[in-house]
Amino acid sequence: MATEEHKYLADIIKNTHATLREEAQNYGPEIAWKQHISRKDILQKYASSMHKLATTCWMENNLNIKNSTYSRIEWIKFHCEDYFFNGGRQKYDMREKDIKLKIDTNFVETQVVTHCNLNTEHKKDHISNHCHNSLEKLTKKISLLDVGSCYNPFGASDMFEVTPIDLYGIPDKVLCCDFLNVQIGEEKVLSNDSQEVLQLPENSFNAVVFSLFLEYLPCPKQRYSCCKKAYDLLQTGGILFIISPDSKHVSANAKIMKSWRYVLSKLGFMRIKYEKLRHMHCLVFRKCVFKHVASRWADLQELPQDDVLYIDSTSIYIPQDFRSMSSENEQREKEEYDLNELMSMFNELPFEQL
Ligand SMILES: C[S@@+](CC[C@H](N)C(=O)[O-])C[C@H]1O[C@@H](n2cnc3c(N)ncnc32)[C@H](O)[C@@H]1O
Repeated sequence: MATEEHKYLADIIKNTHATLREEAQNYGPEIAWKQHISRKDILQKYASSMHKLATTCWMENNLNIKNSTYSRIEWIKFHCEDYFFNGGRQKYDMREKDIKLKIDTNFVETQVVTHCNLNTEHKKDHISNHCHNSLEKLTKKISLLDVGSCYNPFGASDMFEVTPIDLYGIPDKVLCCDFLNVQIGEEKVLSNDSQEVLQLPENSFNAVVFSLFLEYLPCPKQRYSCCKKAYDLLQTGGILFIISPDSKHVSANAKIMKSWRYVLSKLGFMRIKYEKLRHMHCLVFRKCVFKHVASRWADLQELPQDDVLYIDSTSIYIPQDFRSMSSENEQREKEEYDLNELMSMFNELPFEQL
């Protein structure tokens, strides 16, 4: 069983999420969000609880097993290295070129355009020119934007030039920034004391990380808006990591995972990696050089009619969106604290519980 301290810290996390979701239902997501970010004391308590749970309690109790705090950060590091330094990016550049060629060839064939004299070599050159920037091998550090960084878990790694941002900043460690409302422009703009981000630079990051971040946001449109921002901030060929807690079997939320792929594909992201670890989904999406190469996957899907997950392609749903507040409260009341569960994943986050 969990120690009193674990329970206390986990309660702070759970109550913060529950209050935000409840207020979003009662007053609408915009008002609820404004209220939420004005409560600096709550944000501070959440950040320190999260930091302590992740780096002290879980680590101390998990020296012999690969816990999720460790594994999600390591998973991201491993896949970043593979993609940027071990040929992953070039592999997906080539895959994208092949798909584009197929799409263009089909298009030309079906249109029977007789006066179109694009031959295959000509088309290949054309695509190569577009992919040129993306094909260049990365020789410097990976520029990584860690959204909802909390305690800057990537800061210690030499591989990255990290921009760690969170609602609650930690001076000289994590920059204060509300990603939902931050401006995007030509360059990075900081506040006078350099502790807050006012604007982030478009098309500039190699990687954006959403680790246990999307579930924090109470509404599907807000989650989509963050994914769209990640798209605008990434360079072409850059990658978005999404780590999402879920202790259930891979098939339990497969429909939701597919809908994420669908929505992000429409946005211009190709899913290049998906792994279900015991307590989380780990996904990597690549910002394609050609948007229609990414959206082809979505276009080929036969979707269930009238399924709320697909009614519009600007919403990212999580299981909590389909639960009533009363059933959530009931679930919380009967919940027991199990140290293994607490340590192994944030089952206190607003995702499916075991
Ligand atoms: C569950 S914690 C995840 C911490 C860390 N990424 C990890 O994997 O351990 C979620 C974090 O997202 C932050 N967050 C939520 N909404 C945010 C927003 N709009 N902009 C920046 N940070 C946000 C919260 O303050 C919180 O620290």
